Amino acid sequence: MQEIKIVKAKTLKEKPDSTNLGFGKYFTDHMFMMEYTEGKGWENARIVPFDYIPIHPASTVLHYGAEIFEGMKAYKTKDGFQMFRPLENIRRMNDSAERLCLPALPEEFTLKALKELISLDYAWIPEKEGTSLYIRPFMFGNDESLGVHAVHRATFVVILSPVGNYYAEGLNPVKISIESEDVRAVRGGTGYAKCGGNYAASMRAGKRAAAKGFSQVLWLDGVERKYIEEVGAMNVMFKINGEIITPMLTGSVLPGITRKSCIEILREWGYKVTERLISVDELIGAAKDGTLEEAWGTGTAAVISPIGHLVYQDVDHVVADNKIGELAQRLYNELTGIQWGRVEDKRGWCVKVEK
Ligand code: PLP
Ligand code: COI
Repeated sequence: MQEIKIVKAKTLKEKPDSTNLGFGKYFTDHMFMMEYTEGKGWENARIVPFDYIPIHPASTVLHYGAEIFEGMKAYKTKDGFQMFRPLENIRRMNDSAERLCLPALPEEFTLKALKELISLDYAWIPEKEGTSLYIRPFMFGNDESLGVHAVHRATFVVILSPVGNYYAEGLNPVKISIESEDVRAVRGGTGYAKCGGNYAASMRAGKRAAAKGFSQVLWLDGVERKYIEEVGAMNVMFKINGEIITPMLTGSVLPGITRKSCIEILREWGYKVTERLISVDELIGAAKDGTLEEAWGTGTAAVISPIGHLVYQDVDHVVADNKIGELAQRLYNELTGIQWGRVEDKRGWCVKVEK
């Protein structure tokens, strides 16, 4: 595959205070870019100073939303940095690309591009407990014409952002509202793809929920509004009577990499983990009769986020006394331990880069 050209920034930006990073507010000095043209493939791979991207006013993405993205993290280690299961993200991006008729990425080359970009902006990886360097690869259709058809041109970009907690609550329990009006995705649609349109469709419910003090909404399926799907930026797991239940991947739920990793860890710990349809009535029933022992969300940005309140049709159900549940805490420790290099990575999940 092609070489990656590097154009370094002439002046470097001041780094933010790592005690107050929030999520996705600061960006590093460089970004990776390359362009695809049908018949030619990916070309012009380069790392350039972080900057605005000029775009044609008729570009496909601006009119028809041809956009996909990923979210992954790099963590500073004693002798360099490591990424958590990056090939899983690149493969999921290719699944999203297939759904949106965008071109596939070469897996190993994309991983190489990530390593080179992060190495160049290594000084931006924050060190404080709970922080990391968030990696945001994204791709958009860039045909300069208004016809509705599969794209012939696309742009792939990677930007980096030093981040702290996704939720202001950190590891403290969040308050989630179960949405019964809007839906996020339907089977046969784009729910399993990580495309911008899914998030655009979710914003109205998110805005209404935020105005009432909720962190995010929990989506129900788009057909019957009966089955639990996922939260805005995380998959969900429930501990009911000692068993872990998580919504099965029906096509309208994002196949989370944190979800997959937690399922593996929980099974190794001897828990029964079941991926199946779980109805909102069953969940609320378990909350009422006390068999719902814990609930948490899983995601790259959110890591493990305990759910302390589940509100459905204006009734508030407190989960695990609104405290961090024992299992959620244990999962958080194991997962972040592997990601930060403090717990042995016996499954070979991390890709290490020495500096
Ligand atoms: N569901 C949605 C809608 C998300 O945006 C995310 C975040 O990426 C997840 C689930 C969790 O996926 P992952 O664990 O791969 O980050
Ligand atoms: C992630 O967890 O990486 C996400 O993409 C969630 C996000 C939409 C902020």
